[in-house]
Amino acid sequence: MIRREILKAGRTGMVVSIGLVCIYVAARSIPLLAPSPLERNVEDCKHRLSLALGGSLNTSSVLETPFNSRPLHLVIDQCCQDQFLVPNIVHFVWFQLERLSFYHFLSILSAHMFLKPCLILIHGDVLPAGEYWGKLLDIVTNVVHVRSDPPSQVFGKNLSWIQHKSDIHRIEVMKEYGGIYLDTDLIVLQSFEFLRNYTYTMGMEDDVGLGNGIILAQKNATFLHHWYQSYKTYDPGEWAAHSVVESFQLSKQFPDLIHVMNKTSIYTPSYWQTDLIYKDNYDWSGNIALHLYSVHKQPFKEETIETIKYLNTTLGSLARVDGAEDERNSGLSNCQLQVGSGLKILDCDTIHSLLA
Ligand SMILES: *[C@@H]1O[C@H](CO)[C@@H](O)[C@H](O)[C@H]1NC(C)=O
Ligand SMILES: *[C@@H]1O[C@H](CO)[C@@H](O)[C@H](O)[C@H]1NC(C)=O
Ligand SMILES: *[C@@H]1O[C@H](CO)[C@@H](O)[C@H](O)[C@H]1NC(C)=O
Ligand SMILES: *[C@@H]1O[C@H](CO)[C@@H](O)[C@H](O)[C@H]1NC(C)=O
Ligand SMILES: *[C@@H]1O[C@H](CO)[C@@H](O)[C@H](O)[C@H]1NC(C)=O
Ligand SMILES: *[C@@H]1O[C@H](CO)[C@@H](O)[C@H](O)[C@H]1NC(C)=O
Repeated sequence: MIRREILKAGRTGMVVSIGLVCIYVAARSIPLLAPSPLERNVEDCKHRLSLALGGSLNTSSVLETPFNSRPLHLVIDQCCQDQFLVPNIVHFVWFQLERLSFYHFLSILSAHMFLKPCLILIHGDVLPAGEYWGKLLDIVTNVVHVRSDPPSQVFGKNLSWIQHKSDIHRIEVMKEYGGIYLDTDLIVLQSFEFLRNYTYTMGMEDDVGLGNGIILAQKNATFLHHWYQSYKTYDPGEWAAHSVVESFQLSKQFPDLIHVMNKTSIYTPSYWQTDLIYKDNYDWSGNIALHLYSVHKQPFKEETIETIKYLNTTLGSLARVDGAEDERNSGLSNCQLQVGSGLKILDCDTIHSLLA
């Protein structure tokens, strides 16, 4: 891949490759970065939440609060509202003890880089575990654990699949807070700001279903109520009937309540085309996000931040760490992490610990 070769050639600098346009920036000319207004805002929101939860000024650990917590609502109202209808909060649902895989790590990191949310809420009974969780928290500092047990029933019927519990809980979360819901195996590739003034947005997954891996919603959006009510006819034996097919039917019934994105935007490559991600090179420049389907189609060989850079595949083009080797020789103080076409400049110690 051209992208890869140029990156190798640019050992002492950095190459930003956006499509075919490459910009060379000498690494030495990058000044030490002061916190941007956004970063200050993120620290401020986190600080406010810590105080609202009765905590001290020690904000190094992940803040924790129950679902429907009043302090959390207050801080969101003070801190996360801007000129858009959908608040810039990112939500993930995480049930059951499990390690954070490299793909999950990339997912949350990509949300941090491209969406720049005021808070990232992880909803569930336990926090993720494993080395990538620690690495993530070194880079992303505004993660909050919103404790909630997996729902056990919907309209009196047992929910047996953890996936269905997650489907239900994401609807509850969006009703309660509004914001941007993301699946943990979805890589964000662009800002979603252009979608944040629709009251509700989902994307086509195929010709007969809407994907529920990305949901943007205003708090208590009316579409969510219709969708939730549709679970009255829930049948545990039908895998995607309510999450995917029913939501599509509702979008036909209530077109004014939903903005529907085409399937190229998010769900291409599809579930049936994952070779395009793991074996071939797919041009993702038209995607706002890309679904890795790593949760559904395990076991894929799991890559790491080290191995991914040798892959001549779509996956390989999605993430890269650069500058860490140069730093030892030249005393650079800034290294970089690339996700999609985005770059994050970090101090090289953080990058070293990422690679360790
Ligand atoms: C990467 O793979 C593509 C096919 O997907 C191939 O055309 C290209 O030559 C490969 N590049 C390298 C550097 O191996
Ligand atoms: C903050 O809390 C963490 C975890 O509870 C602890 O390890 C750390 O020492 C504390 N830092 C300060 C400055 O109190
Ligand atoms: C979003 O919509 C609200 C209400 O309709 C409007 O007041 C606001 O100006 C819009 N914001 C942007 C950035 O378009
Ligand atoms: C639903 O779950 C409860 C508690 O686990 C169990 O007692 C009950 O038999 C289940 N009902 C059905 C219809 O499977
Ligand atoms: C949420 O919306 C539903 C119907 O769309 C309405 O009945 C309810 O009062 C709303 N709740 C809040 C807190 O606004
Ligand atoms: C899908 O939507 C995007 C953005 O809304 C647009 O740029 C693109 O051309 C659309 N693609 C198709 C195949 O309709």
